[in-house]
Amino acid sequence: MKVSDNEILAAADIIRKGGLVAFPTETVYGLGANALDANAVARIFAIKERPSFDPLIVHIASVDTVAHLMLGFDERVNLLARAFWPGPLTIVVPKNNSIPDIVTAGLPNVGLRMPANDVALRLIEAAGCPVAAPSANKFGQLSPTQAGHVRKAFPALKHVLDGGPCRVGVESTVVALDARGFLILRPGAITREMLQKHVPASPATGVSVLEAASPGHMPSHYSPTKPLFIEGIHQLPADTSGAAYLSADGRIPQGYAHVEILSAKGSLNEVAVNLFGALHRMEEAEVEFIVAQTVEPRGIGLAIMDRLRKAAHRFHKD
Ligand code: TXA
Ligand code: MG
Repeated sequence: MKVSDNEILAAADIIRKGGLVAFPTETVYGLGANALDANAVARIFAIKERPSFDPLIVHIASVDTVAHLMLGFDERVNLLARAFWPGPLTIVVPKNNSIPDIVTAGLPNVGLRMPANDVALRLIEAAGCPVAAPSANKFGQLSPTQAGHVRKAFPALKHVLDGGPCRVGVESTVVALDARGFLILRPGAITREMLQKHVPASPATGVSVLEAASPGHMPSHYSPTKPLFIEGIHQLPADTSGAAYLSADGRIPQGYAHVEILSAKGSLNEVAVNLFGALHRMEEAEVEFIVAQTVEPRGIGLAIMDRLRKAAHRFHKD
């Protein structure tokens, strides 16, 4: 999907004037505003109906911008940024005063990310400011991996840049750094094994101070409007004749009204790409509930299981 220079310039103008623009990234679509403008950022919280305690990620177009937004210096941030940017990695760093408190929900740290998407990078560059952007969905609902998903969530939003479907499909890995190493606050396509090649992992386990300071990690999130069950984790209803099945390896079980194949060959990357799109379609389809197959919790499979569990959480007691 080609986005013209004129569209980018018009959208950048909206951002500079304090407005909101939805734009593609490699992970999911974001809903962006000038990260240095507290009033503009307040509009994001309002239209998303997002609680003010949930911090936003700030998107930048070059590694050098980190120095303008970060308090102090940490060589590990440079190592991670050089290794994985542009890409699906958000690095949480101490923020300086240029970032208004509303962006970080009052936290002293800000999540920075340089997305690997040409439209996103052109937009940020043309706007000439860092762009605060959460996923472009109503709070707690399904993430958008196509422009159509954004339009469904925000029919009145005027500025949606359509860059086609996202090529990763799950949100960025969020990492924080403590004195000893990195901690993964949200799993994504950049895995622990990949990060460890550049920076040591912190031995901190359990809910660390940093994890507790990442209030976006509510147990319920990414949720479809229809009940979701995970095979092998939740007790499935006996009658599935009105239900949809999300197959992660091409297996087609009997007794379902509808089957969505996320990957015919069991590729976890393909499952991630197709996951939210399938859940969006099943919200619209004539099915009563959704059953998802589990995937192996390795590599991007950890992120897939994280999203599935959060999507299913509000329908179950565990
Ligand atoms: O891939 C992505 O990260 C997408 C695209 C648009 O870049 N963005 C995204 O944003 O997923 P959002 O707002 O839906 O999720 C961001 C999460 C927050 O809920 C929070 O848990 C964590 O990232 N986060 C952001 N800033 C943080 C901070 N300063 N400290 C700890 N966690 C933070
Ligand atoms: Mg989100």
